[in-house]
Amino acid sequence: MRIGALDVGRVFLAPMEEVSDGPFRRLCKRMGADVVYTEFVPAEAMVRNIKAAERKLAFTEAERPIGIQIYGNRIDAMIEAANMAAGRRPDILDINFGCPVKKVAEGDRASCSGSGLLRFPDHMEEIIAAVVETMAPHDIPVTVKTRLGWDDESISVLDTLRRAERAGADLITFHGRTRAQMFRGDADWTWIRRAKEEASIPVIGNGDIRTPEDAARMFDETGVDGVMIGRGAVGAPWLFTGIHGFLRTGVVPEPPAIEERVALYFEHACMAFEEKGRWGVRMVRKHVKGYLREFAGASRLRAKLMECEDPDDLRRALADDFPGVVGDVPPPALADASPPESTREDATR
Ligand SMILES: Cc1cc2nc3c(=O)[nH]c(=O)nc-3n(C[C@H](O)[C@H](O)[C@H](O)COP(=O)(O)O)c2cc1C
Repeated sequence: MRIGALDVGRVFLAPMEEVSDGPFRRLCKRMGADVVYTEFVPAEAMVRNIKAAERKLAFTEAERPIGIQIYGNRIDAMIEAANMAAGRRPDILDINFGCPVKKVAEGDRASCSGSGLLRFPDHMEEIIAAVVETMAPHDIPVTVKTRLGWDDESISVLDTLRRAERAGADLITFHGRTRAQMFRGDADWTWIRRAKEEASIPVIGNGDIRTPEDAARMFDETGVDGVMIGRGAVGAPWLFTGIHGFLRTGVVPEPPAIEERVALYFEHACMAFEEKGRWGVRMVRKHVKGYLREFAGASRLRAKLMECEDPDDLRRALADDFPGVVGDVPPPALADASPPESTREDATR
């Protein structure tokens, strides 16, 4: 598939705040994710040089092709943020028009962002056009990620698609839910098919892909150019290997054995520790349930792991159930530990 001049595979890792950070992106990449995105970064925090926002823009060469995702309302701030992002040389710049969280999405034409801009499509189009113009001299394609509409009474898929195309976006991703649904109910893929039928730019289908079979079904039912996986990959980065294997052969490859999953979890936590210190290890707790899925002693071990704050704690916690599995991995040096600020909080300060 082509995104502007960029040639990429068709299985994407979704941007997820406080989940799709560098360590997780690198693991997903290694296990088959073709394109990854940073967590969303508020333009207003970027232009005020807020540290938490700057941290979220960082990535390593191993993560390419990578998109930086930004969101905001003010055109000037979006242009400045896009230029700042371009300085990091991402492969893609993505604009978020999907976040449903109240403090992001609610507000009027001059203050809402994320999915809130689905209620102000002219302004959304202006933002896309301004960002596309900003990125053109940098040769960085612009993609858009959004939802089906604000609510069931205002499904705006085809209008959003036309506006994104007219404004010069190189690709659009639809999460098959409305803002009103938040993350509840089922994603409706029929609207994704309608978008694909009408689109002249690549369309990515997103929402409720949790297994290799789901990914294949998204391709079959909608004809999309690519699929994007969010929650299904949390604590299960090998899902990407499974999807590629199933699409190629029609057979779902065996997921890694529990010992391999535990070793991956430990590696994930060590990378997070190296990058962020103790709060990095705390962030990886979101993945524990996934890594231990189908292990008989999961709930007891999970309780122990939830207390751990560094690789030595983890090694001790894992020693009884998995002796030797993580024993010979040296602990990394402690990074300059930073507080676990949320970008969203920064945006509202
Ligand atoms: C914890 C979490 C954080 C998320 N953060 C972002 C984000 O920063 N940017 C974005 O575009 N979508 C974000 N999303 C939405 C996902 O990218 C995706 O659209 C949604 O989860 C549906 O896909 P899934 O069913 O595969 O999870 C987030 C979702 C979750 C669960």
